Amino acid sequence: MPLKGVLQSLLILSLYISSSLTTTTTSNATANLSQQFKEAPEFYNSPNCPSITSNYDTEKVDDEDDDDNNKDVIIVCSEEAVHVAITLDATYLRGSLAAILSVLHHSSCPQNIFFHFITSSSSASNNASLRATVSASFPYLKFQIYPFADSTVAGLISTSIRSALDCPLNYARSYLANILPLCVRRVVYLDSDVVLVDDIAKLAATPLGGSAVLAAPEYCEANFTAYFTTAFWSNPSLSLTFANRKACYFNTGVMVIDLDRWRAGDYTTKIEEWMELQKRMRIYELGSLPPFLLVFAGNIVPVDHRWNQHGLGGDNFRGLCRNLHPGPVSLLHWSGKGKPWARLDASRPCPLDALWAPYDLLKPPFSFDS
Ligand SMILES: *[C@@H]1O[C@H](CO)[C@@H](O)[C@H](O)[C@H]1NC(C)=O
Ligand SMILES: *[C@@H]1O[C@H](CO)[C@@H](O)[C@H](O)[C@H]1NC(C)=O
Ligand SMILES: *[C@@H]1O[C@H](CO)[C@@H](O)[C@H](O)[C@H]1NC(C)=O
Ligand SMILES: *[C@@H]1O[C@H](CO)[C@@H](O)[C@H](O)[C@H]1NC(C)=O
Repeated sequence: MPLKGVLQSLLILSLYISSSLTTTTTSNATANLSQQFKEAPEFYNSPNCPSITSNYDTEKVDDEDDDDNNKDVIIVCSEEAVHVAITLDATYLRGSLAAILSVLHHSSCPQNIFFHFITSSSSASNNASLRATVSASFPYLKFQIYPFADSTVAGLISTSIRSALDCPLNYARSYLANILPLCVRRVVYLDSDVVLVDDIAKLAATPLGGSAVLAAPEYCEANFTAYFTTAFWSNPSLSLTFANRKACYFNTGVMVIDLDRWRAGDYTTKIEEWMELQKRMRIYELGSLPPFLLVFAGNIVPVDHRWNQHGLGGDNFRGLCRNLHPGPVSLLHWSGKGKPWARLDASRPCPLDALWAPYDLLKPPFSFDS
């Protein structure tokens, strides 16, 4: 019996097995993400953009093997790159892809943007299928996917907010400083229901001064009292929380975060402490927003309102169409219950949903092009 032949057929068999496994994974990925998305065009830097890989390219041209890996490390750690964090899950995938496209489309240095995608590690459409979907729509995108364990927050989410349990990913924004690599020092966090119509680099460059951790548009005319319960305001020590600050509502769907300062101040723990308290006594009604207000309201750098034209989802009234707030627009945010993709699919769009539609990458059903 020629041993060589046996080895050869074993090798062929194992090759066969590994290739059939690959095929299976791919077909499950396609099956699970029932939606099919188009490929976005490639976007190029304008000539005056800093080149975030040039140093490396000139120094180590001979070392072909490690080229890609090292480039990724340099880009993921680059101070010149604009770092953007977005959550990715099957339900909001269409929104996230539209947000990415809008960011690239309006950027003058799109090749210098690095995306950090946070996914639920328990999500049915897993890691690999989301990666495949993002790569198929954006073959040139610089990105990294980070699984976020639902268990991180499961024990912290108050049982009084049942619906929030459906989406632990909502809380991922409180953990960015832990999730992203230490070398990433500043990030722009974006919700999945936004569309940018301006260069994200301008937002990312918001000066944070000597000590601010966060920058976001503030809404001092909103009734701040309403975000917390009577139990909170009537408790003498709790109500002192905001005593020495001019606390205003801000929306956590668009934030510039100094991750170094966040880590130094361990703000994740501070947010978790409020969530622990919420479990014991109900101090607020909403899910992930109030802990942010408790920790940061009054201490953030205000960003021009143009960077979060929020409420376009119609708040809590499904079917209610909202108008833009007066003033210029750099970012549209469909916060609230109504999402533009759902209203477009139902053929009952709000007028402003027409501004989201151009960024929709969903392939129409029964389209057979690839
Ligand atoms: C892929 O799907 C098939 C049929 O739906 C299933 O039998 C198989 O276990 C799945 N494989 C994985 C890796 O999920
Ligand atoms: C596909 O979806 C099914 C049901 O939603 C799930 O059980 C399965 O684990 C998923 N498979 C992959 C590869 O994500
Ligand atoms: C996600 O994918 C990455 C790279 O493909 C892998 O290293 C990581 O273990 C995966 N995580 C999960 C939870 O599947
Ligand atoms: C603000 O909200 C609180 C609690 O919902 C309410 O009692 C109060 O009347 C509101 N104030 C204004 C000025 O609307």
